[in-house]
Amino acid sequence: MTPLGLGIDLVEVGRIRDLLTKHGERFKEKTFTAGEIAYCDSCADPAMHYAARFAVKEAAAKSIGTGLWAHGVDWNDLEVLREESGRPKLALHGGAKAHAERMGSTGSLISITHTRELAMAQVILV
Ligand SMILES: CC(C)(COP(=O)(O)OP(=O)(O)OC[C@H]1O[C@@H](n2cnc3c(N)ncnc32)[C@H](O)[C@@H]1OP(=O)(O)O)[C@@H](O)C(=O)NCCC(=O)NCCS
Repeated sequence: MTPLGLGIDLVEVGRIRDLLTKHGERFKEKTFTAGEIAYCDSCADPAMHYAARFAVKEAAAKSIGTGLWAHGVDWNDLEVLREESGRPKLALHGGAKAHAERMGSTGSLISITHTRELAMAQVILV
């Protein structure tokens, strides 16, 4: 399992809370998959979990390399899934998947942490 890329990102939960208040469903659907929305909305403080997933997407883009957004990659091409234990895992689709595969990647390791103020994620592309 050779590390091919590393990315980290820190997100202010308040920024995501504001976007959810101002743009609601439009922001959610543009940025998160149906599965991510279902999970976050089932939690007591959805903004914290949305912020964490936003951080994963930014961290994943960093792990794959710069210019990902310029290459037509969509926010929803980077998806956080959950194992039964609650452990998060990253699923890549579309352009993000193609970029990662070109780098020789077959998977990734991710970790999330959050408080009501800050959410952080780390991604290692392997
Ligand atoms: C895993 C656990 C130790 C998290 O530690 P914590 O210090 O309380 O919280 P942190 O903010 O550091 O981490 C939370 C993140 O840990 C991750 N996590 C949960 N279970 C995990 C596991 N078994 N292995 C690795 N990561 C895990 C998740 O990504 C979670 O964020 P998410 O709910 O937005 O996906 C523990 O609290 C737990 O088992 N949580 C289960 C999930 C849960 O209760 N979610 C409630 C919201 S619905």
